Amino acid sequence: MPHVTVVGTGSMGSALAHCLLKNGFRVTVWNRSAGKTAPLIQEGATPADTLEQAIAASPLILTCVKNHTTTLNLLQPLGAMLAGKTVFDLSTGGATEAIALVAELEAQGAGYMLGMINAYPSDIGHAATTILTVSSAETWQAYGNIVRRLGGASRRVGSEPGALAALFAALFTTRQAFMFGMIHGALVCRKAEVPLQVFSDQIPVSMKLMQDYYKLFARTVPTGDYDNAEATLAVYAAALDDALNTFKESGAPAALPQLMADLTHDAMRDGYGDKQLTALVQQMLIER
Ligand SMILES: NC(=O)c1ccc[n+]([C@@H]2O[C@H](COP(=O)([O-])OP(=O)(O)OC[C@H]3O[C@@H](n4cnc5c(N)ncnc54)[C@H](OP(=O)(O)O)[C@@H]3O)[C@@H](O)[C@H]2O)c1
Repeated sequence: MPHVTVVGTGSMGSALAHCLLKNGFRVTVWNRSAGKTAPLIQEGATPADTLEQAIAASPLILTCVKNHTTTLNLLQPLGAMLAGKTVFDLSTGGATEAIALVAELEAQGAGYMLGMINAYPSDIGHAATTILTVSSAETWQAYGNIVRRLGGASRRVGSEPGALAALFAALFTTRQAFMFGMIHGALVCRKAEVPLQVFSDQIPVSMKLMQDYYKLFARTVPTGDYDNAEATLAVYAAALDDALNTFKESGAPAALPQLMADLTHDAMRDGYGDKQLTALVQQMLIER
């Protein structure tokens, strides 16, 4: 079994190291505060006294610290020691930080893999757990099987260092749009004296409809086919106007429904009225 070094044994790093040990890998561990490696050493991990020792121990260095910049600051002073190693950074971070980390690794002759863990530490090692990664195809070929031990549904999504930050922003915004929709819904209900319990009880009905939204999105956006709409963008624009007027008349904060109404009206002006609502993806890419 290959030798893997884990740098950073906080909650997530410990779960990753534990999973590797359980799968029979030889694991060397290093953490800034030494005490946190003790349970892993009891399980069979080899402690490294210094970061340099930890890096020297394995071809694959898995880092899981605060963020990409923390990883960069830890590794930068090691310089040529990194040559020939592959660093798999599972710390979170923005696109700029990811690009800076990868540039430094490549400058030192090291390979890179970045991972976004869509799971809690207790999910590590499970078949359904997903770690989205970016790396070269060759690096994935060499180490993808190890990533799949950590999360069975893991996959490589490309080689661009900034891709994971974009994916995180996209997925987080999708979830938060739902949360902020509920928050604004509560405001308009409260203004109209609709009991919030009634509103809350009705949300699961809307969630079923959201599955149809997703199916429409998945059918139209990846293919770019926005014709033959069952409910056209113009129909949605009219319904959004109704909702916006209700917000305004009740005195509830209306910035969110205003944004949605404005976007659909822009698209209608650009001739998208008979298209699917999801044609906004195309219209906004072209027009902005
Ligand atoms: N926990 C989750 O559910 C989860 C899920 C997905 C992704 N992640 C990501 O995984 C990474 C680690 O999260 P965690 O939950 O394991 O956090 P954590 O338990 O707080 O551990 C943080 C780790 O980073 C180390 N660290 C922080 N600053 C450092 C520095 N300046 N130099 C060296 N080491 C430093 C800490 O070392 P010390 O012990 O010395 O402080 C510790 O090992 C984060 O990027 C997080 O976003 C976590």
